[in-house]
Amino acid sequence: MKIGIIGSGNMGRALGVRLASLGYEVLFGARRLDQAQAAADVAGAGAQAGDTDAAADFGDVVVWTVRSSDPGEVLSDPTLLDGRIVVDLNNRDYATDVRQGHWFGEAIAERLQEAAPGARVVKALNTIAMETFDTAPETLRAAGAQSFVAGGDQAAKAIVGEILGDLGFEAVDLGEGAAAFRAAEALGDVIRLVMIDGGRGGRAHLGLSVLPEPDLASIGPRAPSNYR
Ligand SMILES: NC(=O)c1ccc[n+]([C@@H]2O[C@H](COP(=O)([O-])OP(=O)(O)OC[C@H]3O[C@@H](n4cnc5c(N)ncnc54)[C@H](OP(=O)(O)O)[C@@H]3O)[C@@H](O)[C@H]2O)c1
Repeated sequence: MKIGIIGSGNMGRALGVRLASLGYEVLFGARRLDQAQAAADVAGAGAQAGDTDAAADFGDVVVWTVRSSDPGEVLSDPTLLDGRIVVDLNNRDYATDVRQGHWFGEAIAERLQEAAPGARVVKALNTIAMETFDTAPETLRAAGAQSFVAGGDQAAKAIVGEILGDLGFEAVDLGEGAAAFRAAEALGDVIRLVMIDGGRGGRAHLGLSVLPEPDLASIGPRAPSNYR
């Protein structure tokens, strides 16, 4: 499968390098060609470099690692994203948005989907620190690593789920629509608060646990209620 990386900074480089090591065909795209080439050099494994248009054109799956939700700022032609699965792993700015409590506005993924209606946007990996891609997938799997996913295109989400599985993450589906995109980005805010303000550091991980089934013998069953 061909993966085009839009933006070859920390996340783009780290994720692309790991994907290339797993046998994916990767083209690193950046507005500075030297940056894209440096990432491709780190990856080896036949990884290529080009501009952002080249990455969008190349990928069956395009990984959007630039925070801008305006494809017109990043690509010469936003329709380059038409039909592409676009993995949006962005979070809003920590200092100006998260720590100031500006939560639950329109999500980056929501705006990106509106601006590129032909793209198949899937939110994923935004709760995962870039250093995590240095860890072998089997180690992540054994640790129960998970990535939340959100998006309305079920087939696209399934393909992203397979890629996440190769990387060592179980996909936890948040559903679709604005609520799912906003929830995914809120989780990106939560994990950064835990890592940074909560002092847990970049190895902290946000995942879903399922508790044992209760028999309710001691407290009785749930009664009908108007509250959900
Ligand atoms: N780092 C993490 O651990 C992590 C984890 C989860 C999610 N995220 C999210 O992932 C996103 C990227 O983070 P990062 O750590 O990779 O940041 P980064 O190292 O600063 O990389 C971002 C890259 O985006 C490029 N870029 C920005 N605007 C662009 C534009 N209009 N056109 C083309 N390229 C553009 C920048 O290019 P220039 O260098 O040319 O400016 C830069 O190389 C953020 O939304 C962040 O919240 C990061």
